[in-house]
Parts: sequence; C-alpha cells; structure tokens
Amino acid sequence: MSTTERAARSLKSVKDEEWRTLAGLERAASGSGTPDLGRLARMSRLPPDRVKFATDALEKKGLAMRKGLGYVLTREGAEAMALKDYVKKDLIFALGAVIAKGKESDVYEALTEEGAVYALKLYKIGRTSFTKVRKKRVRESAEFKSWMTANYNAARREYQALKKLEGLSSAFPRAISYSRSTVLLEELAGVRLSQRPELRDPPAALKTTFESMRTAYVKGGLVNADLSEYNILTDGASVWLIDWPQAVGASHPNSADLLMHDVTAVSVFFARAYGVESDPGQVFEYVSGKTANLTKG
Ligand SMILES: Nc1ncnc2c1ncn2[C@@H]1O[C@H](COP(=O)(O)OP(=O)(O)OP(=O)(O)O)[C@@H](O)[C@H]1O
Ligand SMILES: [Mg+2]
Repeated sequence: MSTTERAARSLKSVKDEEWRTLAGLERAASGSGTPDLGRLARMSRLPPDRVKFATDALEKKGLAMRKGLGYVLTREGAEAMALKDYVKKDLIFALGAVIAKGKESDVYEALTEEGAVYALKLYKIGRTSFTKVRKKRVRESAEFKSWMTANYNAARREYQALKKLEGLSSAFPRAISYSRSTVLLEELAGVRLSQRPELRDPPAALKTTFESMRTAYVKGGLVNADLSEYNILTDGASVWLIDWPQAVGASHPNSADLLMHDVTAVSVFFARAYGVESDPGQVFEYVSGKTANLTKG
C-alpha cells in the first residue's frame, strides 16, 4: 500500500484531538526546532495529556513520528490532512485508482459523491532522498521542513497557474482546489503524447498545441517552462497542456528563453514522432504574440 493509500485509509480512524494535534504539528513546522509535547499542546490548544495520547495514536497510524523529545508530521500526515480538507469541503469522498506515478508526483482518481471523477495530484518532490534519510538515521525535522516547503509550494503554484489559465482555453485542466502538498484537478481522458498515440490529425494537434501555448502566454501571461511530449495529454483529437508548478510569468527575465525551449521541444517531438515539421523561430514569433498567424502569408 502506498503512503497515500495509507493516509486515505486512516482518515476514518483519526479522532478530533488527533486532527488538532496534526494541525499543531503543521503549524510548528514553520517555527524552529521540533515541538515537544508542551509546545505541541499550546499549538494544538489541547491539554498535554491529551496531546500525548493523540501523538501516540498518530505515530501508530504513521501520520506523525517521534524525533528526539518531540514529534513531526509525516508525508502521510500531510496527505491525510489534505484529503480530510477535500472531504470536508464536499469535493471528494473517496480515493480511486492510481492514474500515474511519476518522479515528482503521484496522480490518483478522486471520486465525488455525484459520481464524477477528479485527478488528485500529490507532490512527492524529494521522495528518494527523504526515504533514504529516513532509513539511514534520525529523522531530521529540517528534512521534513524542506520537503514540506517544496511540496506545499509546488501544489500552490500549480493551482495558482491553472487559475490564471482558467476559462482561456479547454486545453488546460481546471484546478478545483489545493491543499497541503496536493492539487485537485479536472480529470482528463488522455494519454501522454510521449506514448505516441495515434492522432486523428497530427498537423491540427500541433497547431492546437501552439495556439494553446500562445493563449497561455498572451492571455494568461504564463510560460509552462517544462513543456514536452511528457506534459501534453491527448485523446487522439484534443490536446491538454498539463503540469504547471514551474510556470513562469511572461514578465520574468527568462520567459522568452523558456518559451523558446518549450516551442522547440514540441516542434522537435512532432517532427520526430509524427513527421510534422515546424520552424521553431517562426512558431516563437506566433506563440509570443509578435505575429498573428502561425504561417506567413
Ligand atoms: N488532470 C489530469 N487528468 C488525468 N491524468 C492526469 C492529470 N494530470 C496528470 N495526469 C497524469 O499524471 C501524469 C503525471 O502528471 P504531471 O506531469 O502533472 O506530474 P509530474 O510530477 O510531472 O509527473 P512525472 O514525474 O511523471 O512527469 C501525467 O502524465 C498523466 O498521465
Ligand atoms: Mg510531468
């Protein structure tokens, strides 16, 4: 069972005082050092004996762990809090199947009460080093703090980028919400372009991709900055541009370079995989809004 599945499974068994203790641990993580039971009691607004009881229970569930004389939140703990948040907001009620497991995130189906399905992206940046450190020796709270910062920030940034893009084109997934290290997205019925799926009309798919990049840049003021066949999904007809945590504003000093990089990656891939040629320099002019049409004349 993955950490996320464990987090989901533990939801029902977590008692109110334990949730308050988790919230206290999360708050304490932005301060210095590891909170002992006294500080945690203040952070959680609970009597010290109840906090002791709660931390023991959380430790058994894998949602918190002991460090020195104190306790820290685990990744499962953060994910459990995020899931609880979505459930409380009536956004989802259960976790479904795994959609994809990647280097930086796992993506799961998340089910709504009405029978709809969202994609829940859980960030796992630094997963390997975190596990290694965990196995090796004392669990440094600094290690968790940096994990927490990197992953909480990635989720927030992706959400904010997608909100800027919302309504501009159907080529961007709608962001429903975000919490902790996770972001809740509209589920897209596509596969990665890197799998080279059959496209109904490859030149049209390329044209739509460039149009969507132009929309993101000109209307949304954003460059994806990590666009490639791995971050484009398709159902054979539509294309979706995904994975926006590293997106950069159009006014950023490197935005032109990053845009050119994205354009080139897409252009090279379509030529290699589908035999559709495009001139990156010319496409750049179009995508950056300098020219009105993709082809001259
Ligand atoms: N909104 C979505 N709907 C359906 N599937 C999605 C959605 N977002 C992501 N996925 C799936 O999850 C995979 C990884 O998503 P994404 O590229 O956003 O994360 P990542 O951290 O870059 O992962 P990786 O390290 O695998 O590239 C996608 O290739 C796709 O298969
Ligand atoms: Mg990706």
